[in-house]
Amino acid sequence: MGMIIFYLLKMEGGFIPLLCLLLIMHPYPCSSLPMCTSLRAPVMAKEALSFCPYKGRVCCDSAKDSQLQMQFEAMNISLTNPNCASLIKSILCATCDQFSANLFKVESQIRSVPLLCDYSSATSFCTHVWDTCQNVSIRNSPFAPSLQGAAGLPQNTSSKLTDLWQSRTDFCTAFGGRADDHVYCFNGRPLQLNSTRTSSVPPKGLCLERLGDKGYINMAAHPDGSDRAFFSDLPGKIWLAAIPKHASGQPLGIDESAPFVDLTDQVKYDTVFGLMGIAFHPNFTQNGRFFASFNCNKETSSTCSGRCGCNSDVGCDPSKIGASGGADHPCQYHNVVAEYTVNGTSSEPAKATKGKPTEVRRILTLGLPFTNNHGGQILFGPDDGYMYIMLGDGGGKNGPFRLAQNKKSLLGKIIRVDVDTIPKETDDLNLWGNYSIPRENPYSEDKELLPEIWALGLRNPWRCSFDSERPSYFLCTDIGQDRYEEIDVITKGGNYGWSIYEGHLPVDSEQKNTSDLIFPAMGYNHYDVNKKEGSAAITGGSFYRSTTDPCMYGSYLYADLYATALWAAAEAPANSGNFTSTSIPFGCARDSPLECNSVPNTDLAALGYIYSFGEDNKKDVYILASTGVYRVVQPSRCNYTCTKESGTQAQTPNFPPPSNGNHLESVLYISLILILVGYML
Ligand SMILES: *[C@@H]1O[C@H](CO)[C@@H](O)[C@H](O)[C@H]1NC(C)=O
Ligand SMILES: *[C@@H]1O[C@H](CO)[C@@H](O)[C@H](O)[C@H]1NC(C)=O
Ligand SMILES: *[C@@H]1O[C@H](CO)[C@@H](O)[C@H](O)[C@H]1NC(C)=O
Ligand SMILES: *[C@@H]1O[C@H](CO)[C@@H](O)[C@H](O)[C@H]1NC(C)=O
Ligand SMILES: *[C@@H]1O[C@H](CO)[C@@H](O)[C@H](O)[C@H]1NC(C)=O
Ligand SMILES: *[C@@H]1O[C@H](CO)[C@@H](O)[C@H](O)[C@H]1NC(C)=O
Ligand SMILES: *[C@@H]1O[C@H](CO)[C@@H](O)[C@H](O)[C@H]1NC(C)=O
Ligand SMILES: *[C@@H]1O[C@H](CO)[C@@H](O)[C@H](O)[C@H]1NC(C)=O
Ligand SMILES: *[C@@H]1O[C@H](CO)[C@@H](O)[C@H](O)[C@H]1NC(C)=O
Ligand SMILES: *[C@@H]1O[C@H](CO)[C@@H](O)[C@H](O)[C@H]1NC(C)=O
Repeated sequence: MGMIIFYLLKMEGGFIPLLCLLLIMHPYPCSSLPMCTSLRAPVMAKEALSFCPYKGRVCCDSAKDSQLQMQFEAMNISLTNPNCASLIKSILCATCDQFSANLFKVESQIRSVPLLCDYSSATSFCTHVWDTCQNVSIRNSPFAPSLQGAAGLPQNTSSKLTDLWQSRTDFCTAFGGRADDHVYCFNGRPLQLNSTRTSSVPPKGLCLERLGDKGYINMAAHPDGSDRAFFSDLPGKIWLAAIPKHASGQPLGIDESAPFVDLTDQVKYDTVFGLMGIAFHPNFTQNGRFFASFNCNKETSSTCSGRCGCNSDVGCDPSKIGASGGADHPCQYHNVVAEYTVNGTSSEPAKATKGKPTEVRRILTLGLPFTNNHGGQILFGPDDGYMYIMLGDGGGKNGPFRLAQNKKSLLGKIIRVDVDTIPKETDDLNLWGNYSIPRENPYSEDKELLPEIWALGLRNPWRCSFDSERPSYFLCTDIGQDRYEEIDVITKGGNYGWSIYEGHLPVDSEQKNTSDLIFPAMGYNHYDVNKKEGSAAITGGSFYRSTTDPCMYGSYLYADLYATALWAAAEAPANSGNFTSTSIPFGCARDSPLECNSVPNTDLAALGYIYSFGEDNKKDVYILASTGVYRVVQPSRCNYTCTKESGTQAQTPNFPPPSNGNHLESVLYISLILILVGYML
């Protein structure tokens, strides 16, 4: 979030906390999204490829296209077999398809050819290939049995399919397959997704129950799978809470006076700084490891020292920042990721109700040029077990040192590191911290990148999450400056454009305008003072995967910090990476354990400011707001109709209709804030 000051403003009926935005390997082998065999996102081709029949979003550039043409010509397929030649060409070119990672099932097994559609019928594509090409000699045939593994035939050997395979059945057993919800097959043409299938239906409304009245910044489900979760606040405390059963009438079981761990001594907390992220090791129940990401102040903390993210390697001159950066000295403040343990506080980690506040190990220290836009969320990848650290661009209007695009800077990046293999001596490795680098990080292909970098061109990735059913869906909301609030689908090596662009809008035309920028999957306009529309700062977000609200299943939920709107984004066609957002009303369950505040003259819940989202081990989604913790519950508890909801009889909603997210406009204090934000940025 842009970042925050917690003012308390006395209003009629109670205190309304006022935030002030300062300037400031998984279940399925491939879960689609357009993705190339390199596991990178496809790029928009300026023009159609000349050899392969692909245009628009593609996985080949013109060099790859010519290489495929040469490979095809070297196959020396007789011109008397044009039908076979064209089939083989289409198969070679499938590597340019925007879904090639899925067609080639790269994550589970690298194939020499895409999965050929085979429905065991006389008309399947695989049958067609066999029938048309069985007697045709192909030099360096991609259908050689050994190629299913790797090696290949001796070079320049010509072979017919009948030399290599006994029968069509053998051939199609090796190369054919069926598409299902998560695997696609190749039928000779660029992949078209079934547009009649969508992942979800637009929900009528989101029903919330209020489980707590404190404003937390982070939530992390307990890694033991139990009905417990950790919550942390900005000043630096983490609590372990019991999650009540649905409709039990109980609030969160949390003892504010007995935090799991209190890091307030180490954390620099004020308007824009604090404990920004927490993460528990996937094997926490065995190793007791947990991590905190926070800010520290060099002037007051002896453990707060490290390299400045503004340095001559990245063309940033600290003396040009000075006090204008919001600090007394450049790099007075740092981002820190530190490791802690529960060892010694209980007989086994899963039983621990306390962690030790003593830092076990420093993972990362990064000096900040300015005081704003420093991100700080940390997450473990559900598939790879690596730690992802979200880092903002370090602040300043329009990214003054262009650090988000600088491949030698960690600022404005998402980095991925291995905290399980920690080298003894990191000094000569020239890393920014104590971790090792996963071999597959993008620098293995682009040597200009710092080895930590996973994705670049971010401004302030405030909340990121993985879809628990499809870990290749890694979505981050990236807070805009003053025009566009965006959501990015983060992919390996992806460049999300800041500070060349803010969303789709050019910011800095003097920067190198690379063609491989990835534009937002969705987003909305920042508040426009003149048009009086838009919102203030985006907060992500979670794929809803609980069965509690079946109408919400599969939607990506996100919000604006100022709670002017909540959105549910549906993907259509299914697995396409093409999202459409709908603003959804939200109400408070009639039997909510804690009473919700409501927006004057409506039945809508007034959430205050939305900081973040969370998920528990049952995949229920939580909204962490300034007015407390809200859980998404059955729609019928708010009288929203969801025909898929079983058991309870849903009523017709008696809430006002959705109002494009500006239903709070009439509320004076919100308008006031929006105007403030508009002017301040
Ligand atoms: C290409 O195939 C033809 C037969 O179709 C053969 O005569 C010719 O020698 C082949 N060329 C090469 C370079 O192998
Ligand atoms: C391929 O050769 C076999 C055996 O000579 C023959 O039976 C078959 O009809 C041929 N197929 C094509 C498509 O020419
Ligand atoms: C394969 O054939 C090509 C074209 O005829 C030739 O340039 C190349 O040297 C050959 N490679 C081998 C390993 O024989
Ligand atoms: C698209 O999906 C519908 C519903 O699942 C199915 O009936 C139809 O056959 C599919 N069409 C194609 C081309 O896969
Ligand atoms: C986590 O624990 C499992 C089972 O004990 C083990 O196989 C795995 O290697 C551990 N992973 C890490 C990263 O420690
Ligand atoms: C905590 O205990 C686990 C299990 O014995 C061990 O693997 C780990 O290294 C310990 N951590 C610390 C910081 O002592
Ligand atoms: C790595 O760990 C050592 C020992 O905990 C610490 O002194 C050093 O500052 C750490 N390095 C970084 C870059 O944080
Ligand atoms: C980048 O290039 C595209 C196409 O050449 C152009 O439309 C766009 O305005 C450029 N963007 C900037 C920020 O210069
Ligand atoms: C993306 O979704 C929108 C709205 O559902 C639809 O109009 C559009 O055709 C979709 N685009 C693609 C490439 O499927
Ligand atoms: C939902 O409907 C029931 C019965 O029609 C009504 O008693 C209740 O007040 C309604 N609840 C809300 C939150 O509107």
